[in-house]
Amino acid sequence: MVTVTVIETVQLTKSYPSVTALDHLDVTVGPGVTGLVGANGAGKSTFIKILLGLVEPTSGSARVLGHDVVGEGAAIRARVGYMPEHDCLPADVSASDLVVHLGQMSGLPYAAARERASDVLRHVGLAEERYRPMGGYSTGMKQRAKLAQALVHDPQLVLLDEPTNGLDPSSRDDMLALVHRIGHEFGIAVLVTSHLLGELERVCDHVVVLDGGRLLQASATADFLGATGSLLVEVQGPTGADRLLGQALVDAGYAARPAEGTLVEVDVRDDATRDVVRDLVVDLGLGLVRMQERHHRIEDVFRG
Ligand SMILES: Nc1ncnc2c1ncn2[C@@H]1O[C@H](COP(=O)(O)OP(=O)(O)O)[C@@H](O)[C@H]1O
Ligand SMILES: [Mg+2]
Repeated sequence: MVTVTVIETVQLTKSYPSVTALDHLDVTVGPGVTGLVGANGAGKSTFIKILLGLVEPTSGSARVLGHDVVGEGAAIRARVGYMPEHDCLPADVSASDLVVHLGQMSGLPYAAARERASDVLRHVGLAEERYRPMGGYSTGMKQRAKLAQALVHDPQLVLLDEPTNGLDPSSRDDMLALVHRIGHEFGIAVLVTSHLLGELERVCDHVVVLDGGRLLQASATADFLGATGSLLVEVQGPTGADRLLGQALVDAGYAARPAEGTLVEVDVRDDATRDVVRDLVVDLGLGLVRMQERHHRIEDVFRG
């Protein structure tokens, strides 16, 4: 399999008079869904604007789909979709009109732009309401319209800046499912930012963690969790109880192994891991003595 580099930065730095927004970042992003995670002010939006050629780096370099962000911004923007963080939708225009218009701006003839607009609006789940002015939309509908316009010109890469911001839990899940589909069914590379690591763990193949403009960690989500989150479990029961639990966890699809003494170590896969351990202990007729985290939870990594 050929690994394609979608984004590559070398010592990328952006300094503002009072703050270093990005500090000598070496980041490589390939196909699939990559999460860019960090607290507010970590540099996520600055990173995205530099990749689009909208903000110039102070030093270092960045290439997107082989194009240099300095001087080749137009070529990049022709191949990349961008969903901005903040509300940028004209209140008196319908989602349909906006997406058709932006499709034409990116070079599609009117008929093709209409067809593409109708496809992408359907994909993001905006139905009849797409003909209504966007001023009356809920936050969830606005986020969907913003996502649709990022997809209209059939990009190879989309940069989604906090697409779940302001959404209630159920709209948040819908948006994350959409992000996953874009990366895995439509075959478009995705870079998606969030200040909540927990939600990106579920849909990202890779995670890049920024902290104060510095790269804290970049790795495959599974490696990241394996390296940073595991539980030590101690159970009470007949001899071999620990091995029974270890086997039950492996059978349930978890990475589990014997640890010191009769402890069982299991990698944290998601928020449900603790509940799965508790349920298995009960199912096996054992007693749970203790369950504690061996390493930092992934959220703690960038909280410092
Ligand atoms: N145009 C700007 N002028 C001055 N400082 C900026 C500007 N844009 C961003 N910053 C600063 O750079 C840092 C990173 O901001 P940003 O990239 O928006 O972070 P994030 O998107 O992760 O919340 C913050 O300290 C922010 O105040
Ligand atoms: Mg931001």
